[in-house]
Amino acid sequence: MRTVQEAALGGLGALVRGLVGSRPRRTDTVHTSAATLHALRARHGYAPLLLRTRGGRAVLVLLDPRDLGRFYAEPASVLAAEPPEKCRSPYAAEPAGAGCGHGAPRPEPRRTDTQALAPGLPVHPSYEPILTLLAEEARQLTASGTLELARVRHTVDRVARRIVLGHAAAQDERLTGWLRQLRAEGGRPGPATEPGTSTGRSRATARSLYGKADERIREYARRADGDTLLGRAARHPGAPGRAHQWLAALDTLPETLLRTLLLLGAHPAEQRRAATEAGAAAAPGELPWLRACVRESLRLYPVVPDLIRVTRTETDWHGVRHPAGTVVLLPAAFHQRDPEHVPAAHAFVPGRWKDQGAVQDIRMAPFGHGAGRCPGDQLGLLVTAALCAEVLRSHRIEATRPVLDPVGPLPETLGPHGIRLTLARR
Ligand code: HEM
Repeated sequence: MRTVQEAALGGLGALVRGLVGSRPRRTDTVHTSAATLHALRARHGYAPLLLRTRGGRAVLVLLDPRDLGRFYAEPASVLAAEPPEKCRSPYAAEPAGAGCGHGAPRPEPRRTDTQALAPGLPVHPSYEPILTLLAEEARQLTASGTLELARVRHTVDRVARRIVLGHAAAQDERLTGWLRQLRAEGGRPGPATEPGTSTGRSRATARSLYGKADERIREYARRADGDTLLGRAARHPGAPGRAHQWLAALDTLPETLLRTLLLLGAHPAEQRRAATEAGAAAAPGELPWLRACVRESLRLYPVVPDLIRVTRTETDWHGVRHPAGTVVLLPAAFHQRDPEHVPAAHAFVPGRWKDQGAVQDIRMAPFGHGAGRCPGDQLGLLVTAALCAEVLRSHRIEATRPVLDPVGPLPETLGPHGIRLTLARR
């Protein structure tokens, strides 16, 4: 087993510093390390790479696709989603230990998520009111004939507030602003001892910001109807707390929506098929081709590029034993674009998601697999695919920036801020 000091790893070292002890990141920084991981695997083989952070923390990076099944299948008593000391909400302002019994799986938040998000159902039970509100909000998306991040964000923010909190929250940009500020400046939990995770925002200030947002969410919870996520989970006392996380998760949709439309803009045949589906009176909310396009966009540009667990017991990987407390990192972005194991890894091929078993293929994990899998996957797909359909029903993507080469390998990263789409009326 080789051990690599993070100083030798460039971008990967930064990645690990940022990841250890934190929840899954929704950034695209991992892409910078894909080449490093390929080079290390070519040089040293498929055994997990053992890294040491400057703080001495051991991190095992899984490079072998054959290890992925185990990562997803191990119970939380062996591979836990978070280290015990990290049993806290996404906000540093919340007391550590809240809602969680020292490393045990957290059944109550999961039950609340299950009630609100209905994972496992092919279409979310509130799909009818959701599709209605999406159609209303999407009008604004196409109004100017161009699409860029700010416009998509504005629409998805309204959509997210209406889905989670109710129509009364549609205009509450202030709440979205507080939550975003918390996440950007002080929201990510991270031990003060880990360099680079301290945000400079005092805990007291973060707590006050959190308190304001939480009070506002509780107000909406009192009025929420049964179609909203809060209303669906009304019997669960922790629902307002989970609403913070649901809103944070929905905040990843604008970039995915924009990238999916950009990819369709660069692939005319796929765009035509999507437009035909959008215009047909198919089963409401299903949109199988557009959902495949969204999954493919997430395979190429995942919003959660790395999945992280921490061992609770001693574990053996490729014949080497590692003590409890080792961080195990599954670089999902690396595996789902690994040309040695994924056909046409750097091309946009939505059809791959129509193959039987594709969604269960553990090499590809835009939503993860197993017990830790994203409970909001169907809702995320419903909203993103339906918004794409709203755009394509009336408009064609005529030009894109950046211009993508439909036959060459797609770029490793596609920052959402640089994307601009020109729409033409059909
Ligand atoms: C297309 C959009 C989305 C993507 C790509 C995505 C992806 C993911 C991934 C990869 C994970 C971590 C899985 C693991 O660690 O094995 C996750 C967790 C989670 N996601 Fe999603 N997600 C999306 C949308 C949503 C939505 C819309 C919601 C709720 C409204 C949601 C709620 C959650 C929750 C509650 C967790 C678990 C967090 C935890 O317990 O730590 N996600 N998601």
